[in-house]
Amino acid sequence: MDRAAAEALPQPVRLQDYAPPAHLIDTVDLTVELGDDWTRVTAVLSGRRNPAAGSGPAPIVLDGQDQQLLSVTLDGRRLSEADYRLEAERLVLPAVDGEFVAVIEGRIRPQDNTALEGLYRSGDLYCTQCEAEGFRRITYYPDRPDVMAVFTVRIEAEKERFPVLLANGNCVETGDLPFDRHFAVWHDPFRKPAYLFAMVAGNLGWREDSFTTRSGREVALRIYVDPGNEDRTGHAMESLKRSMRWDEEVYGFEYDLDIFMIVAVSAFNMGAMENKGLNIFNDKFILADPASATDGDFQRIEGIVAHEYFHNWTGNRITCRDWFQLSLKEGLTVFRDQEFSADMHDRGVKRVADARLLRTVQFPEDAGPTAHPVRPETYIEINNFYTVTVYEKGSEVVRMIHTLLGPENYRKGIDLYVERHDGQAVTCDDFVAAMEDASGVDLTRFRLWYSQAGTPTVKARWQHDPASRRLELTLSQSVPSTPGQASKLPMPIPVRTALIGRNGEPVPLRLDGEAGAGDTERVLLLEQASETVTFADVPPGTVPSLLRGFSAPVKLDASWSEADLAFLAGADSDPFGRWEALQSLSTRALLAMVSALREGRAAGFDPRVVAAFRTSLADDRLEPAFLAELLSLPGESLLGQALDTWHVDEVHAARREARRTLGEALFDLWTGLYDRLSAAEPAGGEVDLSTAAMGRRALANAALGYLVASGREAGIARAVAQARPDGTMTRVMGALVALNDLERGERDQALAAFHDRWQHDPLVLDKWFALKAGSSRRGTLDEVRALFDHPGFSLRNPNRVRALIGGFTAGNPVRFHEADGSGYAFLADQVLALDPINPQVAARMTQPLVRWRKFDRGRAQAMTDALRRIVAQPTLSKDVYEIASKALSSAPDSPQSG
Ligand code: TRP
Ligand code: ZN
Repeated sequence: MDRAAAEALPQPVRLQDYAPPAHLIDTVDLTVELGDDWTRVTAVLSGRRNPAAGSGPAPIVLDGQDQQLLSVTLDGRRLSEADYRLEAERLVLPAVDGEFVAVIEGRIRPQDNTALEGLYRSGDLYCTQCEAEGFRRITYYPDRPDVMAVFTVRIEAEKERFPVLLANGNCVETGDLPFDRHFAVWHDPFRKPAYLFAMVAGNLGWREDSFTTRSGREVALRIYVDPGNEDRTGHAMESLKRSMRWDEEVYGFEYDLDIFMIVAVSAFNMGAMENKGLNIFNDKFILADPASATDGDFQRIEGIVAHEYFHNWTGNRITCRDWFQLSLKEGLTVFRDQEFSADMHDRGVKRVADARLLRTVQFPEDAGPTAHPVRPETYIEINNFYTVTVYEKGSEVVRMIHTLLGPENYRKGIDLYVERHDGQAVTCDDFVAAMEDASGVDLTRFRLWYSQAGTPTVKARWQHDPASRRLELTLSQSVPSTPGQASKLPMPIPVRTALIGRNGEPVPLRLDGEAGAGDTERVLLLEQASETVTFADVPPGTVPSLLRGFSAPVKLDASWSEADLAFLAGADSDPFGRWEALQSLSTRALLAMVSALREGRAAGFDPRVVAAFRTSLADDRLEPAFLAELLSLPGESLLGQALDTWHVDEVHAARREARRTLGEALFDLWTGLYDRLSAAEPAGGEVDLSTAAMGRRALANAALGYLVASGREAGIARAVAQARPDGTMTRVMGALVALNDLERGERDQALAAFHDRWQHDPLVLDKWFALKAGSSRRGTLDEVRALFDHPGFSLRNPNRVRALIGGFTAGNPVRFHEADGSGYAFLADQVLALDPINPQVAARMTQPLVRWRKFDRGRAQAMTDALRRIVAQPTLSKDVYEIASKALSSAPDSPQSG
């Protein structure tokens, strides 16, 4: 019997059904008594009827889940069971008009909470995760973001085992209690929705620092970690201070409490959480030192610390009216953290990395069965909507507003948004309206970016008449249909454009009929299905550079010849454009190899691309970090996307052969580059963590990858030497990644030595799990299965699950998509095992099965079989049910299912 037959299917929530809450809560006084058997929670809620939601008495509706209700008191009267209605996930109190005080007593068992939502215990640490709907697992409460209250929290616990007691805001009282217990009271003066509530209790060490805001407020900064890890928090602390300064300088946002705290925990469902004054982080995004963390880890930590800090204004002071508006805070905050990182490091490199993420992960989401708009209209489980579309495409939408308004008007828009909405729970439309009103720019049609799903394709065709020196450029767009949205309207698409002259200089732009020579770059706003512009005075040999800086989240189909691309790859003054040109050139060559392999023809890598690589390698004006990006071929999944059917084996073989060719043909250049960069790296002692030094290490690792790919012993020997586990982590990981696919004893020995050195460090052990799972060697799936018995592995820890299972299913396409279906069956088993433990993570792990339509019939069949086996589980969570059932919608029936 499948789930549909067993019980009612989970029902979607719809944006169009939004109604304001009947009651508001002004203050919450929460007492949490932590105990080994039970944790007792008492909530005193002072509320009143919401004038914006009608008048007259209305029942008080509270959300609740997985807890035992002990008593309910309303306005001083203890209610009997006949006075209220206790449903599976709600508590309905008698109708009230005007003001009320409700006291709810209940108890919970955080030690049994493996879902990691609400209050849970991770080792000897109690902590919370309330976004999106976790607070209802702590007490009965109107758990929706448009109910904003002032919280006071009293925590009681055994003193010796839980010396540190934290919650949002300022600590106003501490003291001892009988039976070796103690308490702390925290008060947060800012109204907030329940999803921003947080508390922590445990034995923690910390690093302390301070920050003086520009108006002179002295803020204490603390980062709490497991004792022994304090030394690894320096980088996070510096990142925090840089974020605080940047937000003052660029947005005028100042911190607003006397203390800002971060707690790092090892069991955490996502990256980090912006709880007011008390951010809680996955410890992998806090802890770092050069021996155990890579440069990439250092940069991610900086970006995520900034992201969560920035939420204090974009998310906390101004929050979301309902969860459909999630991108209001997430898209905007991602845009802010991307710009922060661009300012701290290299803008061009950052833009390339962000564009690559969007194209590798968001474009496929937008093209698959779970596609949704930046502002979704319906969901079954909100946890499934913390997606690359809401976050990264949402950021691109804010970036386009920034582009259309210009920096000054954008800033005016932000100021107006804060002036209007500080302290409120609002919508994406309120944000756009503030931008519009402050700038005078009409964004009516632009709002389509919030409501229409799917990645638009922009087609660019041009004709250049050397006699009249006119270049006619036609841009046209189409937006694909997506589930629930069959037909689309054209959207306003900013296409940043330049014309690059033969000498490599951008040509001054003058539109036909305009007076005077203009700038060398312009934003063309494509609003209709098709539009044509004509540029005058364009010298012969000029090549258009389009979508510069990746000015819109679209697919560009431009009629560049191979020669045009090779020219732009060497000459475009826009770093993104230059990178993009070489990527396009490489993609064309790789896809030609795939076709040849399919047809059984010899498949060599196009020598023109090798020549373009050679030219770039010789260009000593390029920053090493940028050169490293330039010289990396498009990944297998990007190539798969570019094909109607992702031919997994041929794509893998083509890319491998291309890397071998590049390694072989340019061997001396790689060697020279690698040896020069490695010699500059100090052997021991201080590690230079400057942007420039990180860039040099990235380039050295890129070169090392090609040296190994060449197959020559001299290349492999360099990687083996660099893999020695006493090096810094960036170098060791660079070497292990380079060696990881080799069928050679040196690879096994290098990984074993790494394991021996780091087996007691969970975060580094995760890197080892991911390396083992990511090897394209044939026996990998068996090795992954065997690693479930490794003492460091546990299905209860999301980082271990992501490293080992995700490292295989998402990080190893050629082995996961094995034609015999073994990878899919493995994943279905793991999803079913994980779902009762942690549905949120189980739903994320299901993702690699979702895009089965991209594969050949045999694989598609095996993938849908795996999905069917998952949805047939009668006790499946809403989380996994939503993903798996959407993936299967309109799938042809499998022959086996009846
Ligand atoms: N709001 C968090 C952020 O973007 C992410 C988040 C949402 C989260 N739900 C979560 C984090 C659940 C951990 C667990 O920064
Ligand atoms: Zn966020």
